[in-house]
Amino acid sequence: MNLFVEELLERKTLEDDKLLRLLDSEDVLLDESLHAAAHEVAADHFGKQVYLRALIEWSSVCRNDCLYCGIRRSNTSLPRYNLSREDILQACQHAYEMGLRTFVLQGGENPHAVEGLAETVAEIHASWPDCAITLSLGELPRSTYERLRRSGADRYLLRHETADADHYARLHPAGMCLENRLSCLRDLRELGFQTGMGMMVGSPWQTSRNLLSDIRLIERFRPEMIGIGPFIPHPDTPLGGHPAGSALLTLRICSILRLMLPDALIPATTALSTLLPNGRRAGILAGANVIMPNFTPKAQRSAYALYEGKNAIQVESAENLRQLKTELAAIGWRISASRGDYEESTQIATYNHV
Ligand code: 5AD
Repeated sequence: MNLFVEELLERKTLEDDKLLRLLDSEDVLLDESLHAAAHEVAADHFGKQVYLRALIEWSSVCRNDCLYCGIRRSNTSLPRYNLSREDILQACQHAYEMGLRTFVLQGGENPHAVEGLAETVAEIHASWPDCAITLSLGELPRSTYERLRRSGADRYLLRHETADADHYARLHPAGMCLENRLSCLRDLRELGFQTGMGMMVGSPWQTSRNLLSDIRLIERFRPEMIGIGPFIPHPDTPLGGHPAGSALLTLRICSILRLMLPDALIPATTALSTLLPNGRRAGILAGANVIMPNFTPKAQRSAYALYEGKNAIQVESAENLRQLKTELAAIGWRISASRGDYEESTQIATYNHV
């Protein structure tokens, strides 16, 4: 085993210079070593059982204008939709019948629609009390987060996108700042949400030092969930001309974070699968333990284009789930029947304030 990987496995942390060498290395043997160690930790911790999350992209309406994102307000070539309450409940029912026990409601940032959504969340909570509800709705006032939490939401995904304030400012419109993003993450945690953070790998102007800062931020905050995917340019955005991030580097960072935070819930993301045909399998073999099949109704699917090629990912059906099972069985994994909440193992440290 690579010496740095061995040290990371043992100490669950590593000095800056060593982490930078891991991030910058061109040695493919390093990836083998890193993936194998991370896979073993995940396999051990989760008993080779993948958690599934039903992704329901409930609204493409967004007040925000992030420079990388296809559903940004300024993209006028995109049809906008809000799923009706009935559509959302139907998608949940479909997912439930297929055995999924977590619903993820994701959408653009739209504070005006949140009250209606909170009522739907309460309805989902009452209809499927054995399921977890995850939300991913961007930056909202603490009082709104609180309302959503009281409605029955258990988890919240809010990627920090980059831990460097200047880099953050280059990727986002004036008025958005890293400090506010972090303050939202602290609010979410204080309100008792299982909280997810993460970043795009290979976003424009990103350096290895930026990625190091991302890793350190995640290490300090210790989120329950970590979402990492490669940047994929969307032609109708100001950053559409920049190259895509590297799938290999994304996998490398998944492995590093798995070794640092053995308990974390880490998905093999849709963006990774968009770049890498066997992305789900590669993700699991690099330490991921979550897969998020898409349950957005077909009619609205194409309008939720965060990046190019996203819609090529197939519609979920019993047949697709069987295929996923076969894919996982080939590497000795299976699908868990549980909701897959975060569980802290005994030796884990406490939350450090960010
Ligand atoms: N490429 C990859 N990921 C993207 N996201 C938004 N736009 C892109 C893109 N062009 C990710 C962001 C956001 C999540 C919902 O989707 O990280 O947090």
